Amino acid sequence: MNQRHLTSASGSAHGKIILMGEHAVVHGTAAIALPIPSISVTVDIFAKHQGPTELECSYYQGPLKQAPENLRNIQEVYHQVLQEWRICEVPVKLRIKSHIPHERGMGSSAAVVTALVRALATFYQQELPMTELHRYVNIGEEIAHGKTSGLDTIVTSSSQPVLFQRAEVPKSIHSQLDGCLLIADSGHTGNTRLAVESVCQRLKDTPDTQSYLSQIHDLVKGAVSALKDNQVETLGQLMNRNQEFLQKLGVSTPQLDHLIQVARHAGALGAKLTGAGLGGCIIALCPNQEIARHIQQALEAEGLQQSWFLNFNRYQSMEV
Ligand code: MEV
Repeated sequence: MNQRHLTSASGSAHGKIILMGEHAVVHGTAAIALPIPSISVTVDIFAKHQGPTELECSYYQGPLKQAPENLRNIQEVYHQVLQEWRICEVPVKLRIKSHIPHERGMGSSAAVVTALVRALATFYQQELPMTELHRYVNIGEEIAHGKTSGLDTIVTSSSQPVLFQRAEVPKSIHSQLDGCLLIADSGHTGNTRLAVESVCQRLKDTPDTQSYLSQIHDLVKGAVSALKDNQVETLGQLMNRNQEFLQKLGVSTPQLDHLIQVARHAGALGAKLTGAGLGGCIIALCPNQEIARHIQQALEAEGLQQSWFLNFNRYQSMEV
């Protein structure tokens, strides 16, 4: 049994958006995801002298054991990590501070568990190879969402855009794109589990569905070239085509469709939902910051409350 620990430690991770390929990626095709380092989550651990291990986050404060069902991913990963590391548990307080909106397709659940496992590794002074971190986060993701591709797990701890396909090694994409994305929160929560299950059901019931997934795969491959060759207009068209398939898969909503139309009319080169859909965020590809602000204002006139800008060239400056 390991008894060594610090008195406090922290771990962090960041949010993500899926540029193209969501849902299809669950069934083995490719997807592109972008990390959003400016939208982050931190987990702090403090040793306590007595009492039970406690959890503090924006909607629960109390013993970890009594945390509500929607925090079961945290509970279970916490116990599994300690068990596998053969740690004689000391009572601690776990404090989660998250800037990632919940259930908006921005990777909140994967990022929280990533930050938790990183904090535990520092607290108990354990080595944490990336493959081990990802294994723990995937356990949390299955508890939170059911069937998942594993994409959120990879991108919430990556600093570069990722091309992901299950059963293949994820690849960093070295984007040369000028332009930026506006990420706009519809204000409605999505439900990843429900959305993924409904696509699975459609695959069983509707023969055309499989061909939608392979066509999304081809769009994703085109988008990788567009990112590398700075073809911003092509990328916008590919995003629009991807949105048509997401509509056919039944994961868009009239409200998301409306926001997407508003963004396109205000100057977006392409716009689509991002993540699981049935609520959550849309993304709009903008040729420059000025048009991005104009699109933001147009969406605000429709009641948009929260949005973020993501410049593709920020990844170029972070390349190693
Ligand atoms: C959720 O962010 C993205 C989905 O493709 C599910 C997954 O990849 O696990 C809908």
